[in-house]
Amino acid sequence: MTTKKIAVLPGDGIGTEVTSVAVEVLKRACEAHGIEIETESFLFGGCSYDEFGEPVTDETLDACLEADAVLLGAVGGPQYDDLPKQHRPEAALLKLRKTLGTYTNLRPIKIYPALMGSSSLKPEILEGTDILIVRELTGGIYFGRPRHTKEVDGDVVATDSMVYSKSEIQRVAKHAFEAAAKRNGRVCSVDKSNILDTSRLWRKTVSEMAPDYKEIELSHMLVDNCAMQLVRNPGQFDVILTGNLFGDILSDEASMLTGSIGMLPSASIGDKNGLYEPVHGSAPDIAGENKANPLAAIASAAMLCRYSLDLTEAASEIEDAIDRVLAAGFRSGDIYTGSEEETLIGTDEMGANVLGELKKKAIIR
Ligand code: IPM
Ligand code: MN
Repeated sequence: MTTKKIAVLPGDGIGTEVTSVAVEVLKRACEAHGIEIETESFLFGGCSYDEFGEPVTDETLDACLEADAVLLGAVGGPQYDDLPKQHRPEAALLKLRKTLGTYTNLRPIKIYPALMGSSSLKPEILEGTDILIVRELTGGIYFGRPRHTKEVDGDVVATDSMVYSKSEIQRVAKHAFEAAAKRNGRVCSVDKSNILDTSRLWRKTVSEMAPDYKEIELSHMLVDNCAMQLVRNPGQFDVILTGNLFGDILSDEASMLTGSIGMLPSASIGDKNGLYEPVHGSAPDIAGENKANPLAAIASAAMLCRYSLDLTEAASEIEDAIDRVLAAGFRSGDIYTGSEEETLIGTDEMGANVLGELKKKAIIR
């Protein structure tokens, strides 16, 4: 058996609960394809700050760099909200993304037919929705300099900088074009080019690349319009390519198409390393109660199989198992509507049911 090393960063709040379930599914699904998963866990986020006085240590970053992939839960909690910014759990996440060079974040917005009723949108609007958001992850206003808060003439002035280079735009756009080629062949690049210089460079750069991808239909959309179109007619989109801040906001909005942010997985990739995490946060209000929905974490593990281990089959098997668990009516609290066909279950039971579906198909024993 080949062995693959996965660094696991459960993080804070429900992060620990959902990752432990996802790791189990990952191990069993990979084993069935002759891959042994060896995991090592590290403190990350608030819990790392509590233990070491910093939200991520150099040892943890090194271990993540060396691993075949990184599986992350969630970070943060109200007790860390007033820490100086370099000590906040979120700072660890940005440092990890930057260190790993995972400049492309893939967020698939998939509608599970069984969950149509959980979305705040009408089923006829959701019909046919299948979107991949490709978000630039290591640049833009999240990382731009200068950034500071200063006193100026008796007032207080805060500055953030949105910065993009042509090469940063090209490398993420390449991933978007390539992803579209394997999907429905359409890329919609989203920017604010009526106002921002970075967006004008973004639009120009992406347009210049289009001739290299003749089979892809490229369109452009302003971000405010995109926010509106996502709830008006989400079926029009295939791949949405956008910058860091716009992608952050649009992906939370789009998650509601699926019924719950608790359903949304993500993959962050670059030229070498891969980082996989559910899009949801640490949900301190339900942490430790076996209530969290682990399906986004499990689906992130499936993406890990696809993008970092080249185990496309295992990825599809995990995703199909999720489909069937939902079709059978099992629901965590976030996607439970109270209808008669539904059974409300906890985090561990949801994980056990996914494994159960893999067993039914004789994929695992
Ligand atoms: C996300 C999160 C992060 C982000 C935070 C926690 C730093 O909201 O992954 O979408 O803004 O990128
Ligand atoms: Mn976000």
